Amino acid sequence: MKKLIAILLVSLLALGAVAETLPVLTMGTNAAFKPYEFYEDGEIVGIDAEIAAAICDKLGYELEILDMDFDGLIPAVAAGKIDFAMAGMTVTPARLESVNFSVSYATGVQSIIVPVDSPIGSVDDLYAEGAAYTIGVQQGTTGDIYCTDDFGAENVLAYKTGPDAVAALAAGKIDCVVLDNNPAKAYIETYSNLMLLDSDYAVEEYAIAIALENTELKDKIDAALNELIADGTVAAVILKYIPIEEVAEQTAAE
Ligand code: ARG
Repeated sequence: MKKLIAILLVSLLALGAVAETLPVLTMGTNAAFKPYEFYEDGEIVGIDAEIAAAICDKLGYELEILDMDFDGLIPAVAAGKIDFAMAGMTVTPARLESVNFSVSYATGVQSIIVPVDSPIGSVDDLYAEGAAYTIGVQQGTTGDIYCTDDFGAENVLAYKTGPDAVAALAAGKIDCVVLDNNPAKAYIETYSNLMLLDSDYAVEEYAIAIALENTELKDKIDAALNELIADGTVAAVILKYIPIEEVAEQTAAE
């Protein structure tokens, strides 16, 4: 009996030791971006969280997810405060100056949310001569950057999160919101006075941001991600959160 207990104890200790020695990768995200990252029962879930977990599983790491302001993610990666950022983050030439990006795992579309009775019927209306609409965006996102470039900072109001911008629009404080299409769809669901225009503002690639000097991690993440793309895992995770009709609609629209 004593021997049995001793064996049990040793095996438990061994199990514990294995769990403890798994190295940790910290991922920064901004978890107000359904269906890519959002809270469910106090936990961050979504497409990015699941793909990151699958990558870490493959590479033998434990995944730790930190919720941060979106515009703090790239500086945190560059400063080595987190190992990578995964946040429906678009690859842009400017960001590539401060971080590396993995291979892309999804496409995003910047789209426009308006009140149902809005005079804005398409993206062209925003560019129209004399147009001066107040556009809501999430701070530091490509929506923010592109709209500021195209329509001037005086016409752009930046909010901490996408849902904050959508709430301001529903309350009549701004004229439209430019946001990635899947989060846009998710966040207008609760507002009967808002709708999404069938008019794309920009099409983009989402990827994982990694520090420029951490090429070893970039190579590992790329290898794991390429395998997960090839074996259908990435597509299955995306389909789990974005129903097939919507994916078909989006592909047809491209
Ligand atoms: N795709 C846009 C960008 O990279 C918005 C991403 C916002 N992501 C988030 N988790 N809030 O700028």
